[in-house]
Amino acid sequence: MNAIKIARIALPLRFKKNEAPALPRIFGGHQVFFGSRNAAKGQSVGEFVGNNAQGGTNDEAVAFAEIILWTARGVMPSTLLANPSLLDGKILIDCNNQEIPPGFAYPEITESLAEKIAKDVPNARVVKAFNTMAQEVFEIGTETLKAHQVSVFIAGDDADARQVVARLADEIGFSPLDCGVLRHSRLIETVADFIRLIIIGVEKNPYATISVHNLPSATTTRLGGRQASEL
Ligand SMILES: NC(=O)c1ccc[n+]([C@@H]2O[C@H](COP(=O)([O-])OP(=O)(O)OC[C@H]3O[C@@H](n4cnc5c(N)ncnc54)[C@H](OP(=O)(O)O)[C@@H]3O)[C@@H](O)[C@H]2O)c1
Repeated sequence: MNAIKIARIALPLRFKKNEAPALPRIFGGHQVFFGSRNAAKGQSVGEFVGNNAQGGTNDEAVAFAEIILWTARGVMPSTLLANPSLLDGKILIDCNNQEIPPGFAYPEITESLAEKIAKDVPNARVVKAFNTMAQEVFEIGTETLKAHQVSVFIAGDDADARQVVARLADEIGFSPLDCGVLRHSRLIETVADFIRLIIIGVEKNPYATISVHNLPSATTTRLGGRQASEL
């Protein structure tokens, strides 16, 4: 994939200079810009990442980029940006998930975070992706990651935008799966709620992931094969 301009909106709360965040890995090979409410924080992350990475305000990040990774959970562009129309025609990847409630008793998702963003900035090309694995997984090298076939579930109403995000996911070692229209992001956010139960509550391991694997067809029919349903 040719070098493209990618920006990340909102930087990790816990980012400290000289710490190795998962950020450079996901954006490797492209021109990157790190946006924050605090321009100095954005610049500091850009300097830390190196390779001509830049940083500054969230508006500067959106103005710079063709693809924007939106990591401000549930914060709408119209609230965060002075000029939300900067997003017009651009791909906005929403990787956010709802907060984890006590006991993993998640409320039903009747409108996804991605759909809320799309409603807020209808001229942006919103794509749901990269929300079903923990940040630690992004640290894994591309070849190792490829060997494990970790699915990135992708949903959005713009088919070209879905394809661009799929290529980006493939490039950094994931197995993209085109899940169709943005409404399906409700299901993808639900998958993320489930995998966070597994990561935090069951396996207690951030490297637990969820993937779709297509098995080879059965060569025997030990149960007699699928019968037509009478229901
Ligand atoms: N961490 C993971 O393993 C992981 C994996 C997959 C998906 N996600 C999802 O990605 C999102 C971000 O996760 P994270 O771990 O990076 O979170 P985080 O460390 O808590 O960072 C969130 C950042 O959002 C910005 N922010 C916070 N409150 C805001 C507000 N009221 N208005 C505007 N900006 C605000 C801040 O950035 P600035 O100070 O720079 O403005 C803050 O540092 C979440 O939705 C999470 O579910 C996380």
